[in-house]
Amino acid sequence: MLQTETPVPAREELIATQREYLFPSVGTYYRNPLVLVEGRGCWVTDADGRKYLDLFGGVLTTSLGHCHPEIVRVVQEQVARLGHTSTLYVTAPQVEAARRLAGIAPGGLRRTYFSNSGSEAVETAVMLARLHTGRNEIVALRHSYAGRTVLGTELTAQAPWRPVGGLVGGVRFAASPYPYRSPFGDAGEDAADAFAADLEETIATTTTGKPAAFLAEPIQGVGGIIVPPPNYFRKAAEIIRRLGGLFIADEVQTGMARTGKWFAIEHFGVVPDIMTVSKGIAGGFPAAATITTDEIAASWKAKTFSTFGGNPVSMAAVAATIGVMEREDAPGRATVRGQQLRDGLEQLARQYEWIGEVRGLGLMQALELVRDPRTKEPAPERVGALMEAAREEGLLIGGAGLWGNVVRLGPSLLISEAEVADALARLGRACDRIN
Ligand SMILES: Cc1ncc(COP(=O)(O)O)c(C=O)c1O
Repeated sequence: MLQTETPVPAREELIATQREYLFPSVGTYYRNPLVLVEGRGCWVTDADGRKYLDLFGGVLTTSLGHCHPEIVRVVQEQVARLGHTSTLYVTAPQVEAARRLAGIAPGGLRRTYFSNSGSEAVETAVMLARLHTGRNEIVALRHSYAGRTVLGTELTAQAPWRPVGGLVGGVRFAASPYPYRSPFGDAGEDAADAFAADLEETIATTTTGKPAAFLAEPIQGVGGIIVPPPNYFRKAAEIIRRLGGLFIADEVQTGMARTGKWFAIEHFGVVPDIMTVSKGIAGGFPAAATITTDEIAASWKAKTFSTFGGNPVSMAAVAATIGVMEREDAPGRATVRGQQLRDGLEQLARQYEWIGEVRGLGLMQALELVRDPRTKEPAPERVGALMEAAREEGLLIGGAGLWGNVVRLGPSLLISEAEVADALARLGRACDRIN
């Protein structure tokens, strides 16, 4: 049922008007862009009234599905009571959101700075690491994505997402722990050693040897859902800490129960020094958090301010989202439904040799498509064709990867068993169509 009485202009008119007034760089999926007008749970409806099962969740952001009734209620109540104050005043929603985040964050991470986007959360984390260590250099990973600000772009190691380069100094990149395309060959059990050695060598050969921080996504999302070998982060954190730097886990995409734990870094047995969180944090509303320890947070002594950071409406959504996730055991559901999804994807990979690899954790899963499984040559054209075919089948899936050859899946954490089965059936038919 429509939540609003406001009439939606006709589909063609909307697309034409978008093309006239938005930056041409605002890209949309599909040859014929999809106009969405309504969403409920795992389902969205387009301007022609067609329904789609949404396996992409607004880029892994509508963590409780579309228009979760509790989030809608809390947001409506808050926007009618107090919509904005700035952080110069104390509000109950911001305090409650921070308290709840401290309750789910690992180790001594209990201090939060709120902002509005993942890019800002990363900026805050990097600035904080520099202030805390008195150092400047940051080591990140190739294939990473860190945002669209100047620093975020510079910390992003994928050429298509870097419209301009060389704007910020002091950023270096180590090899992505990407076993499927490892530059070190198939190192098997020792893969973590090879990737960690590359991190150490990168620091030794391209920095002063005294970096401020190592910044990494526990699973590289935009890069193609790249899951590092199990021991990688334990070794990487040991290296950066031995050299006096901090470990920043960029959990913007992987955090908030997505992978079956509250934060994906917990799969790797490491507690970061600073963590960034956004996307699923507020059930689809704009909010981001940089979370750290008391000691590190205290290093930021200069003035700082974010007009909309900590906005009461977004904060009410954060607190309510965590409440629903706890009540519904979102990590447990992501584990179980993630395994169901994974089993179905593995089944497809046995049928179609152009599915080079299935990977991911929990409800963050991917298919890497290749032209030939022996050469692993990326097949971005197949991702395009599969997305179109899936749309025909009433299924939304996303893309990823440096070469655009990865299918990215990240539905609502509350997706049901029947919906996962339905999605797999639709995806199977879409695969069949393009075979
Ligand atoms: C890991 C990671 N960091 C940072 C960002 C930037 O977030 P935003 O688009 O909210 O600025 C993203 C966005 O996809 C991300 O995946």
